[in-house]
Amino acid sequence: MNIAILGIGYVGLTTSAMLAELGHGIIGIDIDESKIKEINQGIIPIYEPGLDVLIHKNIKSKRLVYSTDIKEAIKKSEVIFICVGTPPKENGEADLSYVENVARCIAEHMDSYKIIVEKSTVPVETGERVAETIRMYNLKGIDFDVVSNPEFLREGSAVYDTFHPDRIVIGTSSKKAADIMKKLYAPLSVPIVVTDIRSAEIIKHASNSFLATKISFINAIANICELSGADVVKVAEGMGYDKRIGREFLNAGIGYGGSCFPKDVSAFIKISEKYGYNFKLLKAVEEINEMQKFNFIRKVEKALWIVKGKNIGVLGLSFKPNTDDMRSAPSIEILNTLKHEGAKIKAYDPKAEEKSKEIIQGVEYCDNPYQVAENADALVILTEWKEFSELNFDKIKQLMRTKIVIDGRNMLDPDKIKQLGFKYISVGR
Ligand code: UDX
Repeated sequence: MNIAILGIGYVGLTTSAMLAELGHGIIGIDIDESKIKEINQGIIPIYEPGLDVLIHKNIKSKRLVYSTDIKEAIKKSEVIFICVGTPPKENGEADLSYVENVARCIAEHMDSYKIIVEKSTVPVETGERVAETIRMYNLKGIDFDVVSNPEFLREGSAVYDTFHPDRIVIGTSSKKAADIMKKLYAPLSVPIVVTDIRSAEIIKHASNSFLATKISFINAIANICELSGADVVKVAEGMGYDKRIGREFLNAGIGYGGSCFPKDVSAFIKISEKYGYNFKLLKAVEEINEMQKFNFIRKVEKALWIVKGKNIGVLGLSFKPNTDDMRSAPSIEILNTLKHEGAKIKAYDPKAEEKSKEIIQGVEYCDNPYQVAENADALVILTEWKEFSELNFDKIKQLMRTKIVIDGRNMLDPDKIKQLGFKYISVGR
């Protein structure tokens, strides 16, 4: 099948590579000429395990082409995926101007039946708006269908997730479009939920909001554990064996970040408001998430007593491991606050240093964790990169001025680290 992917961000890039690997002919389109030039030279703009190999392989086999020529891509393709950004506006609503732009462009250049697939996360009713826009600008009255096909991949495991999704959601009122979409994804052999467009749109927001709720719930439990002397990791384990609850997304820490949860929870609250529903539960989820960063800062302040003039070593900056993404990373607010209080900060992240430098200034970036530990009054863990659990903590102990580890991700074994002579502080235990 010939497919166009409009918008080569995280989702567009991964989807284009996956669909090419399934055997389809893919044209990936972006307006950013330098980005397209670089990808065609083999330079992938994001760090995502396995993605570079997959893209190189499929470019070589000629199933995958990246270009800025949207007109040609629309004409050549039967299915057109909209994967452009939907960034948050100041009031928390999603900015849909990129979606509208590409919808108009599709309408103006299509010359045969097309399936227009909305993959970007969008508010309910966007699919209908896209259809209206296309009808309005498609003066020749060419036949088309709109499908909502939300994406559920996670950063850091995007390639795995895109080949092994838990389900594929296809929202459309057209049987013809649903059948073509099913055929397109057939090689993946996973459950397919076919529904109307509005339900598909809500499935995406409801899923992300539910996962964010799970995280805020366990962070609230972590706070109760701290007050009562219980251990949140054990509590999560005990809860997680109940199949109705599940152990995943019950890791307490410094709160969720990234390009999706903060934006999508806030957008869903706004969408609900528009329908006259006050989504108090999600407002509490947001509030707990915001508080969690400050609870962590209080731990650092309590451990150091006076923050001004202290050397703080930071391990991990990205919003989660296996990505260089710094969007809404809790590290931003935590580092800026500690800097403001007069701390001297050294930081190390295996992949996010370059992106972090654009956002967090006044920090000394180091080449490895041991440099970070040198002369530190406290070592603070903000992202659970696997390599941090394999560090030589004996060596780190020799390097530090005072032996304090504050673990925002509960990634270290409390008994082991205490036995080595560290004062160890974590979240909810
Ligand atoms: C999320 C959804 O999981 C994915 O389905 C959707 O398509 C996009 O948004 P992503 O943002 O890549 O994916 O990362 P995810 O693994 O969900 O983590 C999001 C944030 O939650 C991270 O900051 C992570 O550290 C935090 N988190 C996650 C916790 O604090 N505790 C947990 O138990 C799980």
